[in-house]
Amino acid sequence: MTITIKDKAGAAAMRLAGRLASEVLDYLSPFVKPGITTNEIDRLAHLYMTQVQGTVPAPLGYQPPGYAPYPKSLCTSVNHVVCHGIPNDKVLKKGDIVNIDVTVIKDGWHGDTSRMFLVGDCSIAAKRLCQVTYEAMWHGIAKVRPGVRLGDIGHAIQVFAERQGYSIVREFCGHGIGQKFHEEPQVLHYGRPGTLEVLREGMVFTIEPMINLGKRDIKDGPEKDGWTIVTRDHSLSAQWEHTVLVTPNGYEVLTVSAGSPPLPDFVPGFAPDSVAAIAGVAKT
Ligand code: MF3
Ligand code: CO
Ligand code: CO
Repeated sequence: MTITIKDKAGAAAMRLAGRLASEVLDYLSPFVKPGITTNEIDRLAHLYMTQVQGTVPAPLGYQPPGYAPYPKSLCTSVNHVVCHGIPNDKVLKKGDIVNIDVTVIKDGWHGDTSRMFLVGDCSIAAKRLCQVTYEAMWHGIAKVRPGVRLGDIGHAIQVFAERQGYSIVREFCGHGIGQKFHEEPQVLHYGRPGTLEVLREGMVFTIEPMINLGKRDIKDGPEKDGWTIVTRDHSLSAQWEHTVLVTPNGYEVLTVSAGSPPLPDFVPGFAPDSVAAIAGVAKT
């Protein structure tokens, strides 16, 4: 297999899928409050995708080799859950942090994005982890332009997160995306500058660092559902995800919508105050 390059029409289709994925998160935001269950969030999202947007929830029934079919329409990863948490009947409570990861399919093209949500008032430690993880993702995005290598992206994320005393999960990574959910290449969130694949115009991939407050080690969750991953030391874990297109002189973030959070100060670009994709020129 090789990395797919999106032409103008492919990029336009990915832009639409990306915006729709982000709009699912916008729609869910007001519901993410103490007392709601993650199953209810899943139900609301499923209805919004299928009845309002005319999109297909990519996770539902998704079955990579060696996995059981994923049973829900999105992932909800609460507190020490690193990723792939399956919605259930537990209620969210004040002080929880939850990652909601949405992937939609529109006209056969995938948009994949996740955000952290603070449930009511949260500890300073939890808020800081979520903020630093958001900035870590953006340190990776800001590197993207033709000629740069994947190792440069991973390195930027790793250096920033580790400097804050956090650790990067290594077992899961970003991925190429398009007419398939998970395509080549793998996008590691750690690495060495000047190594791995050279970026080319038209590539589309996700950047989705998982960052732990404690050690980087992970294990299967106690549910033994084949999906849920937790931190081995039970420390909090956060993740953000965007889908990014490589443009002639930088990048375009495809998974943006009216409710996208503002860009960190260090990112040169346009504030996402419209539904237009965020175009950035990576610094050389
Ligand atoms: N959305 C996840 C990602 O970012 C993948 C979830 S697979 C699922 O790659 F089946 F759990 F949904
Ligand atoms: Co992804
Ligand atoms: Co995702």
